[in-house]
Amino acid sequence: MSEQPVLEVEDLTMHYTTRAGTVRAVDGVSFSVARGQALGLVGESGCGKSSIALTLLKLLPENARIVGGKVLIDGTDIVPLSEEELRAYRWDRISMVFQAAMNSLNPVYRVGEQIIEALELHVASAREESLERVRQLYDLVGLDPGFISRYPHEYSGGMKQRAIIAMALACEPDLIIADEPTTALDVIVQDRILREMRNIQAALAMSMIYISHDMAVIAEVSDVVGIMYAGKIVEMGGTTEVFKHPIHPYTRALMSAFPSVTGERHELMMLAGEPPNLLDPPPGCRFHPRCPYATDECRTEEPPTVRRGEHWATCWNPPEA
Ligand SMILES: Nc1ncnc2c1ncn2[C@@H]1O[C@H](COP(=O)(O)OP(=O)(O)O)[C@@H](O)[C@H]1O
Ligand code: SF4
Ligand SMILES: [Mg+2]
Repeated sequence: MSEQPVLEVEDLTMHYTTRAGTVRAVDGVSFSVARGQALGLVGESGCGKSSIALTLLKLLPENARIVGGKVLIDGTDIVPLSEEELRAYRWDRISMVFQAAMNSLNPVYRVGEQIIEALELHVASAREESLERVRQLYDLVGLDPGFISRYPHEYSGGMKQRAIIAMALACEPDLIIADEPTTALDVIVQDRILREMRNIQAALAMSMIYISHDMAVIAEVSDVVGIMYAGKIVEMGGTTEVFKHPIHPYTRALMSAFPSVTGERHELMMLAGEPPNLLDPPPGCRFHPRCPYATDECRTEEPPTVRRGEHWATCWNPPEA
């Protein structure tokens, strides 16, 4: 594929300044997303997944600082852009669905009105046209258009999340970043919404970044997966390939924590110990304090990249498959 990726992230590093010191939340992360592709990012809570999502659109809190790297959208680096210049990218090119997004609906306005408002901020259109567009979007995300004029409290949790997805789709973005989009919902609703998002993504040839701590979710929706540990991507490749033949010991450990991913039984490798404190991450390989394969060099030197075609991982001693 020679077509330019929708998004290219190069060596991205982001820190938070806190009273306790510098939190190294994103450390030298690189990946790209092709048109129509779904990329999954998975890792334990606190490994930096949401920090990456927020950095990609520069929706950062005051104490966050992009220390290095590039975020190229259709070839343009948005890191140096001003808020004013970023407006052309947010929602129109890239939109987001957050975990707690369904709580962000304003309780005193009808849900349909809130989507129309989001739409009209970006696309000048007559009211009847906007309403028709919202009807189409409701259809697309599996909501009864009869609910357009209802208030948020009349929606279930799953319906609210569908409305948020409709809002994210409203401006026909090239890429949607969905950060734990269904984590707050029960498993059956979660499954149904994920499957529908996957269908919409395929039908519109849109790109997606799915973020989740749940390997099973990522396995279901992603073409390519990045495994994150302590602010870094430690393994990446085609989803089937990574889950069938994981290279990194952390990926193996995660998989045994989510045995439903492949349906196969894995030798259960418990993830003992805590995720590292990103105020003072371990030297060498950040996984070494928890890794059963750790050797001396793991404790002092950054691990090299091991490649099997497009599939790679960073490890000194990748265990035999
Ligand atoms: N606003 C903030 N200020 C300081 N530290 C933060 C802030 N937001 C997140 N962090 C820290 O950054 C690290 C990564 O967090 P986050 O990106 O939310 O992880 P994830 O989404 O994978 O759970 C964690 O150590 C977290 O405590
Ligand atoms: S580099 Fe060493 S500590 Fe890190 S995952 Fe590989 S074997 Fe384990
Ligand atoms: Mg998060």
